[in-house]
Amino acid sequence: MSYRRLGVNVDHVATIRQARGVPYPDPVAAAMIAEQAGAHQITCHIRMDRRHIQDADLPRLRDGVQTLLNVEMAPTAEMIDLAVEVLGHRRAPAGRPHRVTLVPERPGEVTTEGGLDVWAQHEAVSEAAARLAEAGIRVSLFIDPEDAQVRASRLQGVDMVELNTARYAEHDPDDLDRLARAARLAGELGLEVAAGHGLTHHNLPELVAAVPEIVEYNIGHSIIARAVFVGLDRAVRDLLEIIRR
Ligand code: PXP
Repeated sequence: MSYRRLGVNVDHVATIRQARGVPYPDPVAAAMIAEQAGAHQITCHIRMDRRHIQDADLPRLRDGVQTLLNVEMAPTAEMIDLAVEVLGHRRAPAGRPHRVTLVPERPGEVTTEGGLDVWAQHEAVSEAAARLAEAGIRVSLFIDPEDAQVRASRLQGVDMVELNTARYAEHDPDDLDRLARAARLAGELGLEVAAGHGLTHHNLPELVAAVPEIVEYNIGHSIIARAVFVGLDRAVRDLLEIIRR
């Protein structure tokens, strides 16, 4: 069995639902299919404009998932209150705590544009992480693969970083090296390493082979896009096959 885990991000099932303002397709149903296919966790991103996942989806996902829920959000007071209310002192069926991944958010952005600047936002991020950890929620920080950001991420309550793979996904040839170096440093500092953004069944194999320190991949858009043609079960299984190599 591989040590690597796949988090399936179900946001874009909700994007399709919100496009029509109808109750379907349901991201909770997608989460169940993804888990049946072997996903290790379900990820969703609650954005300030609520353009896909809605507040009411969070308790439904929390109660529906059999693995665990990883909720991506900005480190604002509103979002942290919501996380504590929905996930605080709750555990997934297997007994593991749920997770929050803190990400930056700029109003009007199409998707997350970069990692958190943990240096610049040190106070807000530390405060958010401490509140989440106190409520029994595990905390990851979504950061760019830079030494300074990895070092700044060693905060109380933070046990994981998610390295931003957007530049790698956009074919920046230097980014595999940057990701490998950041992942190694994070490992040395005792942080678990996840990766995400823009990953697909085309660009994942090279990353998996080059950066063995990455233990978790959070992937959304390419899975849901591919599911339109091959089905969600197959789209998830194909990625699992890649990370198990
Ligand atoms: N990880 C983080 C922190 C994200 O913000 C996102 C997008 O919501 C993803 C992973 C998934 O990215 P993609 O949809 O490009 O696979």
